[in-house]
Amino acid sequence: MAKWVKAGDILGGKHTGKKVEVRGWIYRSRSSGGIAFILLRDSSGIVQLTFGRDQLGDQAFQEAEQAGVETSVRATGTVVKDSRAPGGYEIKGESLRVVGPSANFPIARDLSDEFLLDVRHLWVRSQRMASIFRIRSSVFGAIHDYFRRRGFYEVQPPIITATGSEGGSTLFEVDYFGRKLHLAQSWQLYAEALVLSLERIYTIAPSFRAEKSRTARHLTEFWHAEMEVAWEGMEGVLKHGEELISHVCGTVAKECSRDLEELGRDVKSLPRIKPPFPRMTYDEALERLEEAGVEVEWGKDIRTIEEKALAKMYDKPIVVTHYPKETQAFYKRADPEDPDLVLAFDFIAPEIGGELIGGSEREADLEALKANLVREGEDLAAYEWYLDTRRYGSVQHSGFGMGVDRLVQWICKLDHIRDAIPFPRTPARYAP
Ligand code: 4AD
Ligand code: MG
Repeated sequence: MAKWVKAGDILGGKHTGKKVEVRGWIYRSRSSGGIAFILLRDSSGIVQLTFGRDQLGDQAFQEAEQAGVETSVRATGTVVKDSRAPGGYEIKGESLRVVGPSANFPIARDLSDEFLLDVRHLWVRSQRMASIFRIRSSVFGAIHDYFRRRGFYEVQPPIITATGSEGGSTLFEVDYFGRKLHLAQSWQLYAEALVLSLERIYTIAPSFRAEKSRTARHLTEFWHAEMEVAWEGMEGVLKHGEELISHVCGTVAKECSRDLEELGRDVKSLPRIKPPFPRMTYDEALERLEEAGVEVEWGKDIRTIEEKALAKMYDKPIVVTHYPKETQAFYKRADPEDPDLVLAFDFIAPEIGGELIGGSEREADLEALKANLVREGEDLAAYEWYLDTRRYGSVQHSGFGMGVDRLVQWICKLDHIRDAIPFPRTPARYAP
């Protein structure tokens, strides 16, 4: 019996001279001079199979010749080194069996982005998507690894919530047995309760934002890696942000070099993403932007265009700190040295711009917190339970949230965030 092996291992020279079985999907096929050439794809790569008419017999040969793109098959044969074959190896085929036929696969060449989104359930099989998904898997693994090795506990916040934390305009409504509830924008309030139990916590969970702006970096459902630590201020968690991104970049460079190259990312650039990252205050960022000819009024958000202008100046993520209080969520701590500012920071992706991380120290003062909520027009009664975190044994705590899809987008050099996730959700896209 031939052993079932993966295409990637054959191309890595592992099975040369051996008789093997491969299972996969037909990527492309052609025949000439009584030989059928089949490029077979599995989750690890693409390997060439060749079959002679004599060897298969007329009927099987014809089946092989006519099998459509994405037909699933099982085949056996002997692995040989052959510099003419794609990847340098091929399988001299002996048997071929169709497992699932595929006639007229809808995706051919040169199709529009919109069509590829319509047939996303099939497009996920493409080499490009598979490369992105393998990298994405490596990124998630590296995030878990980072936090677990540093004594963080993973916790699971609720998704259905009664209160928001990141502003009312992006809240998705849920009809909860006739009551109006919301999908979580962040674990924020729950993290601030749980951190007083476990001290160092993290989660990777979906977050939801009814974000109507159609940009290349907003999803309505995105994956959010969030962390919260007790007894720490802004500086401590900011360092975790640097170390985390550095760890993820290093891991992906090690685990996914081939996929990164396929996507046009210089693999050597990733291990260079090491702390410290360039750092500036919001005021300094405005000065740099002004020097570059971009005017931002003080107190206004640094938006997409401005981020891009900043991003072009550096090759590591940029850390901007001390934002104006009026633009920021209620739970961020006012700067004791300047009450117009908060102890908050963002990480901006180099090259493409876009906020990778948003974080802060949290307001510890109960009255200040209440005043912030009132200023945002929130009903204090809905936040009573959260305010208990400040009434009973509150301690200094801080944390951040990282948009994992955005991190994948930057690492993979993708024009649009929707390609960073298998089935993207945007205002116009909710199927398949
Ligand atoms: O800056 P944000 O809104 O911060 C929070 O939600 C805090 N409660 C996090 C915390 O301190 N625990 O969101 C954090 C990150 C952003 O920097 C961005 O990377 C990502 O989440 N993000 C989105 N990613 C994709 N699509 C969207 N619509 C996103 N909105 C935010
Ligand atoms: Mg933010």
